[in-house]
Amino acid sequence: MARVCAVAIAVLLGPVLCRNLPEDPFTKELYVAVGSAVEVPCKGKGGEEGQWGLNGKELHAVLSIRNTTLEDQGNYTCRSRDGSLLQTLFLRPGYPPSRPQVKCWSPSYPKHALCSWGEGPEPLLPTRYTATYETGLRWGHLLQPCLPVPGLRHHCQLNIRMYHQDAHSINVTATNPLGSAYTIFSFMVEDVVKPDPPVDVRVVQDSKAKTLSVTWAPPPSWTTPAFFPLKYMVRYHTGNSKTARKLGPFLSPAMALKGLRGGETYTVQVSAQDRLVGQSSDWSAPVSATVLPRGHAGQR
Ligand SMILES: *[C@@H]1O[C@H](CO)[C@@H](O)[C@H](O)[C@H]1NC(C)=O
Ligand SMILES: *[C@@H]1O[C@H](CO)[C@@H](O)[C@H](O)[C@H]1NC(C)=O
Ligand SMILES: *[C@@H]1O[C@H](CO)[C@@H](O)[C@H](O)[C@H]1NC(C)=O
Repeated sequence: MARVCAVAIAVLLGPVLCRNLPEDPFTKELYVAVGSAVEVPCKGKGGEEGQWGLNGKELHAVLSIRNTTLEDQGNYTCRSRDGSLLQTLFLRPGYPPSRPQVKCWSPSYPKHALCSWGEGPEPLLPTRYTATYETGLRWGHLLQPCLPVPGLRHHCQLNIRMYHQDAHSINVTATNPLGSAYTIFSFMVEDVVKPDPPVDVRVVQDSKAKTLSVTWAPPPSWTTPAFFPLKYMVRYHTGNSKTARKLGPFLSPAMALKGLRGGETYTVQVSAQDRLVGQSSDWSAPVSATVLPRGHAGQR
C-alpha cells in the first residue's frame, strides 16, 4: 500500500498514488488514472490556506479535476496570500498496467526457453516487470526467477526439463504506481521448441544449366545439432510472382533448385525445425540470385 502524502486530499476517485519526493520535501508526486477525479485543497503544513497556480496562471483554492486527462499533467504550485510556496504537486496522469501478453519458445532446446511480453497499451508511467516460473502443477512451490537476457528488453530466460510430464508455468507481473497485473502462461516444453532461422544462406549458379545451388548453416543458437538434428524447408519465388514454391524437408544443409528459367531472378528462404518436436523457425532473410542464360553455366 502506498504511503499517503501529507497533503490533505479531500476526494480521490479511481486508482491514485501520492508520494513525497525524498529530495524535495515541498513536492509531492500524484499519479492519477486517466478518467478519475482529484480534489486537493491548497493548504500549508500549519493549515494556512492559499491558492493553486499552473504555469503562472492562478487557479482556485481547491484543485478540482472531475475527469483527469493527459493534458492535466503539470507542476501545480500552492502559494499563500503573501506569495510563499506551501507545496508543489507534480500531477502525472496515466494508466494502470494491462496484463502482459506472454509468449515462450525454445531456440536452444533442450537447454533454455525464452519468454517475451508485450507492454499492451502504453501505460505512460514507469512500469516494472517481474517474471517467475515453476515446473509442475503445484504452483507456489519452488518458484524460480526467470532471468533477464542481456540486451533484450521484455525478455527472460528459464531452464527447461526435457520430456517433463508437467507444464512449465511462468508468471509475468507488470507493476506501476497505479496498480499491477499479471499473466500466467503455461506450456509443455516439446510444444514450444522453435529454432532461430538458418544463417549464411547462399544461392549460386550450379555447374548444371538452369540450376541454382542453395546452401546454409544451422542457427548458431541451436547448440546441440549432433544430438537433436534439424530438418529444413526451402521456399522460393521469381521476382514478379507472389506465390512461393516450397520444397523439403532436407536433412542436410544443401539442395539444388532445378529446371529454372535462364535470366530469371529467384528469391530463396530457408527454415529449420527439430526433426521430432516443436515448430518451424521463421524464414531466413531472403537471398536472390539470377539464373545465367543458356551457355554460361558450367564456369567456376
Ligand atoms: C472523461 O473524458 C473523456 C474524454 O474527454 C470522455 O470520453 C469520458 O466519457 C469522460 N468521462 C466522464 C466520467 O465524464
Ligand atoms: C515537474 O517537476 C518535476 C520534478 O521537479 C520535473 O522532473 C518535471 O519535469 C516537471 N514536469 C513538468 C510537466 O513540468
Ligand atoms: C504472480 O506474481 C505476482 C507477483 O509476484 C503475485 O502477486 C501473484 O499472486 C502471482 N500469481 C499467481 C497466480 O501466483
